Amino acid sequence: MAWHKVFIAFLVFPISVSSQSQNQFQTVFKSPAKGQSETEPTFQFHHPIKRAAVVGAGPSGLQATAWLLEHNFTVRLFDRAPHPGGNWQYSEERPVRESYPDRPPGDYYAAIPPQIPTSRYYNEGDDGLTLDFRWREHWRPRPVWYNLFTNSPKVSTELPDVPYGPEVPWVLDRDTIQRHVRSYASHHCLNSNDYCPSKATPSAPPVTSYSTRVERVEKDEESHTWVLTLRRLEWLRESNRILEEWWTETFDAVFLAPGPWASTHVPNIAGLVDWSKAKVGEHYSAYHSHTYRHPERYAGKSVLIVGSSVSASEIARDISPYTDRLIASVRPPKELTIRRKLSLSRFPNATEIVPEIAFFEPLKTHTNGIRNGKIYLINGTVLQGIDEIIFATGYRSSPLYPHNLTTRTPADTLWTGHWAQDPTIAYSVGRTWTLGRYQAYGIAKVWAGKAQLPPLDQTEDGETKPPSMEWFGEDIFRRYITWLNDASLKYGGRFVEAPPIENLEALKYYSVVHFLTANITALEDIGLSSISMGSLKNKDPWNALVDEDDDW
Ligand SMILES: Cc1cc2nc3c(=O)[nH]c(=O)nc-3n(C[C@H](O)[C@H](O)[C@H](O)COP(=O)(O)OP(=O)(O)OC[C@H]3O[C@@H](n4cnc5c(N)ncnc54)[C@H](O)[C@@H]3O)c2cc1C
Ligand SMILES: NC(=O)c1ccc[n+]([C@@H]2O[C@H](COP(=O)([O-])OP(=O)(O)OC[C@H]3O[C@@H](n4cnc5c(N)ncnc54)[C@H](OP(=O)(O)O)[C@@H]3O)[C@@H](O)[C@H]2O)c1
Ligand SMILES: *[C@@H]1O[C@H](CO)[C@@H](O)[C@H](O)[C@H]1NC(C)=O
Ligand SMILES: *[C@@H]1O[C@H](CO)[C@@H](O)[C@H](O)[C@H]1NC(C)=O
Ligand SMILES: *[C@@H]1O[C@H](CO)[C@@H](O)[C@H](O)[C@H]1NC(C)=O
Ligand SMILES: *[C@@H]1O[C@H](CO)[C@@H](O)[C@H](O)[C@H]1NC(C)=O
Ligand SMILES: *[C@@H]1O[C@H](CO)[C@@H](O)[C@H](O)[C@H]1NC(C)=O
Repeated sequence: MAWHKVFIAFLVFPISVSSQSQNQFQTVFKSPAKGQSETEPTFQFHHPIKRAAVVGAGPSGLQATAWLLEHNFTVRLFDRAPHPGGNWQYSEERPVRESYPDRPPGDYYAAIPPQIPTSRYYNEGDDGLTLDFRWREHWRPRPVWYNLFTNSPKVSTELPDVPYGPEVPWVLDRDTIQRHVRSYASHHCLNSNDYCPSKATPSAPPVTSYSTRVERVEKDEESHTWVLTLRRLEWLRESNRILEEWWTETFDAVFLAPGPWASTHVPNIAGLVDWSKAKVGEHYSAYHSHTYRHPERYAGKSVLIVGSSVSASEIARDISPYTDRLIASVRPPKELTIRRKLSLSRFPNATEIVPEIAFFEPLKTHTNGIRNGKIYLINGTVLQGIDEIIFATGYRSSPLYPHNLTTRTPADTLWTGHWAQDPTIAYSVGRTWTLGRYQAYGIAKVWAGKAQLPPLDQTEDGETKPPSMEWFGEDIFRRYITWLNDASLKYGGRFVEAPPIENLEALKYYSVVHFLTANITALEDIGLSSISMGSLKNKDPWNALVDEDDDW
């Protein structure tokens, strides 16, 4: 049964629903009170929410933590990385090698020991693994490279409370944005080494726990709490060992902000698993863009980049001054969004754009690179003499425990980010820099009992359904602002303002300027010549098509 039907049935005929559905909703929503409209259910948590966990100390999780602390929750913020910053922690360390083919969703983390709490030490080479491998597998170095710049202007890539100085240009280098996110963390006393005597109470546990990977999130149906299974690594450099600790913690509510990039994606092309084994010395010849760091080592090489999105075009721009030959294998995108057009047009002049790869001819040896191997394109052409292949073929979302999802949020997520089936869990919904502050405030308000979950939506055919997400237009801002301020009027709390329209305008003009300065001639060969500015038309300036990436 479609779950929204369950929901309606429960509101109208509470007795007739199956016990399973009742369990799903009874603790959350109750029938409207007398005189209240049926489309405005109130809800009630099983018990007041006191302890909240936040998973992920990127821009999204940091904002949620700040707002939850302001609402006096006991908060624990977990991140697998040793520092806050999320995606924006540049490191010379690289993530461990991606698997070929992709692993099934959910198959990412360590096997959970039978007895918890537990701890153990690892020495170099234990179970055939180096300490360095264990460490990188645990925290997952970020897919950020040395010369990376933001593809979003600073007006829409800024956290509250710590504004950029006027000297900072619109396009941010990765060091500036990294320091910005760390500044926000520090302002809220969430950095790994912060000392904030005014905030600390002697008996209180620390808010943050870094190098701590959340391995599992499970609901304990009896106590109506969430149990997080946690694994922390500490690299004891002096004794050259790694200490691994496992424990669990229990929470009334959980905010999941693990970022959209839990795992890489490599295409499922015939022969690729064989080619993925090829090396020159210690260096693999084909790899995913998440390990890319510096352009200099591409001097004199022939490089094939697979993909046509931002990683593909921006890595192409970075290495192009060095490469001998630069080829991009592009499949015509299913939907030519304005962002995709931008990426396509940003490939440097020197790029040879070629069609999709059909298959890789099996290699005779894996110890001599791929230069002598043959790559067959779908139009019959054979590429040879390639030194390295970079798969800029994107990422897959987190296995959003407890659901094992391959998408960012379950389908039945309210636009506030709360899971409709159990709003003690909430998801970061994307557009972190602009929408994130409203979402974080809304999560804290609902859990603090200072806002009601939004009422059901009326569909065109007169039915009601849970209010769903509409992240792409600007309507979402209006919804949030109205809802939050309405709640503040009723229950107390700060009032919020809409972002200034100048920010939206700046974002549009920024995109247009990038587009107009780009060269699209090279795309004609593969049938992508009809690129136009059509989709930037707008009637309602507040509902303009926004060139904001929902993954930001
Ligand atoms: C190469 C690249 C370039 C980008 N460039 C831009 C740009 O120019 N502009 C822009 O706006 N956006 C850009 N983005 C998007 C970027 O994701 C966002 O800017 C932003 O970082 C999203 O914030 P977040 O907090 O949602 O997620 P993240 O920043 O990804 O943070 C999520 C955090 O959750 C932690 N985590 C995940 N799983 C677990 C777990 N199981 N246990 C504990 N911790 C966990 C991670 O360690 C991470 O620190 C880029 C992304 C990539 C990959
Ligand atoms: N600031 C920056 O400069 C910067 C740099 C890098 C990334 N980013 C951000 O990071 C995010 C991820 O970007 P991304 O470029 O890494 O990933 P992405 O946007 O998901 O793009 C993946 C690319 O791989 C292609 N692809 C996937 N499977 C393929 C296959 N089997 N064969 C051929 N092509 C295949 C896709 O083509 P289809 O479209 O046809 O599926 C797409 O072109 C985005 O939000 C982006 O804005 C920003
Ligand atoms: C949090 O606690 C402080 C100190 O007791 C109080 O002044 C403040 O109003 C509380 N905040 C909220 C949102 O309840
Ligand atoms: C999620 O995936 C893991 C690994 O495949 C599996 O063990 C687990 O049972 C799955 N959980 C759910 C809720 O489906
Ligand atoms: C591409 O070629 C044009 C014209 O030759 C030149 O003006 C421009 O600078 C080149 N762009 C790059 C990125 O090399
Ligand atoms: C196939 O594509 C390549 C690269 O774009 C091009 O050079 C070649 O002429 C094409 N071959 C055919 C048969 O169309
Ligand atoms: C655009 O790209 C094409 C193909 O790479 C190149 O021949 C041409 O010189 C470029 N033109 C400009 C104005 O950049």
